[in-house]
Amino acid sequence: MDKLLCPSMMCADYGCLANEVKMLDDAGCDIFHCDIMDGTFVPNFTMGVMDVQTIRKNTNKLIDCHLMMENPSTKVDWFIQSGADIIYIHPESERYVVKTLSHIREMGAKAGIAINPDTSVSSISEILNLCDYVLVMTVNPGFAGQAFIDFTRKKIEQLVELKDEFGFKVMVDGHCSQDVIEDLSHLGADGFVLGSSALFGKEKTYKQLINELRQ
Ligand code: DX5
Ligand code: ZN
Repeated sequence: MDKLLCPSMMCADYGCLANEVKMLDDAGCDIFHCDIMDGTFVPNFTMGVMDVQTIRKNTNKLIDCHLMMENPSTKVDWFIQSGADIIYIHPESERYVVKTLSHIREMGAKAGIAINPDTSVSSISEILNLCDYVLVMTVNPGFAGQAFIDFTRKKIEQLVELKDEFGFKVMVDGHCSQDVIEDLSHLGADGFVLGSSALFGKEKTYKQLINELRQ
């Protein structure tokens, strides 16, 4: 399976972050997914610029920053300068989405839009041509270990229909278990964020788990 597998670094062991990054890199993951939360847009705090810098020092693979915050445009530069290759913003918390997506590209990074479960595909149709990635939240953002929200599957179907025309990849974030990954891969999704459902806190090694998912 050639899907993009993206470990959710908020689920990693922070007692040995550098080692976690090396093990995940060696296991064959594709993109390090960093959840950045401001405690307001979502009711949690997780990672920050220093974590992104540590990850950058320990891998040459792609890093994405999923900015779950109010007015993300004010912080985009921080995360690109810390080593992020892809920046996701939420249209629900950004007044100037077009300007911010264009700015991300001008800074040399890839631009992504992340949509909450209650945000429709039609509401982002005007900005799809500015996106390299569209991240569909299949849980309410903020916490790992939540249940998959079924109606979001329809949006993945709709985005898969549009992705070749606009040239973006369809990514999925939230409860990506092995079963969900199998189902949504068949539907045409390009990549998955791997948190507590598929990768972290398991008996098996990251390498074993990634190999199993690839099959
Ligand atoms: C929030 C995070 C979570 C999470 C996903 O944006 O990216 O959605 O870690 O992992 P699960 O739901 O499998 O714990
Ligand atoms: Zn995320």
